[in-house]
Order: sequence, then structure tokens, then C-alpha cells
Amino acid sequence: VNSGEEAKTWHTLSSVLEFLLKNQADQQSVMVVVGGGALSDVGGLAASLFKRGIRWVSVPTTLLAMVDAAWGGKTAINFGGVKNSVGVYHWPCHWIYDLGMLQTLTPRQRFDGWAEMLKHAIIGDTELFYNVMDFLGSEPQEAQLGAKSLPLPCADLIDRALQVKIRIVSEDPYEGDLRRLLNYGHTLAHAIEASSSLYSHGQAVWLGMFFELKLAVHHQLVAESESMLILDLLRLLAPFSELPSSGIILPDWDTVWNLMSQDKKIRFGQIQWSVPAGIGQGITGLEIPFDCLKELYEGWSANPWE
Ligand SMILES: NC(=O)c1ccc[n+]([C@@H]2O[C@H](COP(=O)([O-])OP(=O)(O)OC[C@H]3O[C@@H](n4cnc5c(N)ncnc54)[C@H](O)[C@@H]3O)[C@@H](O)[C@H]2O)c1
Repeated sequence: VNSGEEAKTWHTLSSVLEFLLKNQADQQSVMVVVGGGALSDVGGLAASLFKRGIRWVSVPTTLLAMVDAAWGGKTAINFGGVKNSVGVYHWPCHWIYDLGMLQTLTPRQRFDGWAEMLKHAIIGDTELFYNVMDFLGSEPQEAQLGAKSLPLPCADLIDRALQVKIRIVSEDPYEGDLRRLLNYGHTLAHAIEASSSLYSHGQAVWLGMFFELKLAVHHQLVAESESMLILDLLRLLAPFSELPSSGIILPDWDTVWNLMSQDKKIRFGQIQWSVPAGIGQGITGLEIPFDCLKELYEGWSANPWE
């Protein structure tokens, strides 16, 4: 099947199911999904539906999928212009990764993986936070200027970021509460992604983390000194974001609001925000009145990472 976000459609889902039928797969068959997060999302969903569910093995090949998408059991396609609006939980029975596969990633794909690694550090692991800061901050000065490409994280950092996801998902597999922490940056990100194909998932999440940190600061949920450190960490990725440092075109408030109103994180008509509450910690369930949200978004979108 085609790779990338365009794979997350009914069309791909149905072509995978057709392939399984045609090739006489049965309930004992095991599907092996080799690819990035988009393929594990659609492949896992196909495995959950075929003959009421067959086993599947996840073989993530991008950094983002290795630290996040391939582990956690969430599967989905995009539907009705809304990101991940149709899907189920269906855990892979095995999970295999090989860091050698990361060598062929493009700079954008490296960036996307780093964005999710930063998220795990910010909301879930103080030591990882400082380790990532040292790792990215200690690159030669040319890197900060964008002359050099973003390095791949070392195996220890990948493993530690993955442990954040495993710990949270093991404690709260069906997103009762704790797992919602992993949505940090994603409420706005999904709206940005749905509004334009210009943004990759990682770029949208990275932008979303700036905005959602701002919500925490506005509500005094994070100490100023810690919010400055989080901002410093997020900004370390700026030279590699492939986004212009000024004049970035973000969707207007009405578009963003319409898309966010379809979000799965809405409860009783209110968006539930997950935001940082310190270095390596976060809180879930922050509700913000419409007018306040609009004002904060309009202020932020003029200068997303300043
Ligand atoms: N289910 C979850 O818990 C979860 C979590 C996070 C993200 N996601 C989803 O994951 C998707 C993003 O995943 P992604 O960033 O892995 O991107 P992706 O799956 O869209 O892949 C991006 C591109 O990378 C290419 N690629 C894959 N492996 C490669 C390799 N080793 N070398 C070179 N190119 C390679 C693919 O062919 C594709 O063109 C989004 O749809 C997002 O919603 C799901």
C-alpha cells in the first residue's frame, strides 16, 4: 500500500482486507506491518477487523513509530476530514525494531520523531528531559544554525522515551485519564494537520506543544523557570523544523476551532487539554473558556516559537 498519511483511508483499509480475503488468510494468520506510524495505524485497524480480529506484528521503521505510534494499540484512519476519527484499540502481539532502519530517514522524518521524543521527556521523565537537552544542546554550533542535519538520538534516549509510553499505556491502556498526558501538543496538532497537508505530524505536534505550554503558563500550572526550560528545549529543534522562522501561515481561529470541536478529547462539550506541569510532569483535563482560548491562539499564532 502507499505509505504516509494518505494511506490512512477507507480505500487502503479495504484494499488490505481484500488482499487478506483473496489470499485466504484465516483467523490464525498473522499480519506483519512494516512501516511508519501511518501504516501501523491502518494495518492494525485492518487486523482488528478481519474475521473479527487477527494477530499482528508491528515493525516500526521511523523514529516516530519506534518511540510512539507502534506501541500502544491505537489504530485509526482519517475520516470526514478529521484526523484519526475512525479506529479501535488492537494491540500487536509482537513488536520488533532495528535502529539501522533509521539511517535512511529524511531530515523531516528525523525531526518528526524527535518531536514525539521531546513530548515524552516533557510530560513523563525529568531525567530524559535533561539528557535530551544535553544531547541536542551539545551539538556543534553549526547545528544550531541549520548547517548540519539533526542527529539521530542514541539508543539509550530512544529506549528511555519508549519507556515513558510503555509505562503510561500499561497503567491506563484505554485512556481513562493518565494516558491522556500523551496528547500533549496533539489537540492543536490534529487541527493543524487536518487544515493543510503542508505540515507533517511531527511539525504539527511540535507547534502544538508551544501553544499548549502557553495554556499551562496562562493558568499558572507550571512555574515560570520550568516553562522557560521547556521552551528552550522545544526551540532547540527550530533550526531543523523546515518551517520559516517568521511569517509561518497557521490556520485561522475559526478553522482551528471547527476542527478541534471534532476532537476525541472533548468531554461534555469541553476540550480537555493535557499540558506540562513541570519538567517531566503533566496534568490532564484542563478546560479553558472559548474566549480565552481564542485570544491565546490568536496571540500565539502570530509568533509561534518566540
Ligand atoms: N497510533 C498511535 O499511537 C500513534 C502515535 C503517534 C503517531 N501516530 C500516527 O503516525 C503517523 C505518523 O507516522 P510517521 O511519522 O512514522 O510517518 P509515516 O508513517 O507517515 O511515514 C512517513 C514517510 O516515511 C517513509 N519511511 C518509513 N520508514 C522509512 C525509513 N526507514 N527510511 C526512509 N523512509 C521511511 C514512509 O514511506 C513515508 O513516506 C501519523 O498518521 C500519526 O497520526 C499514531
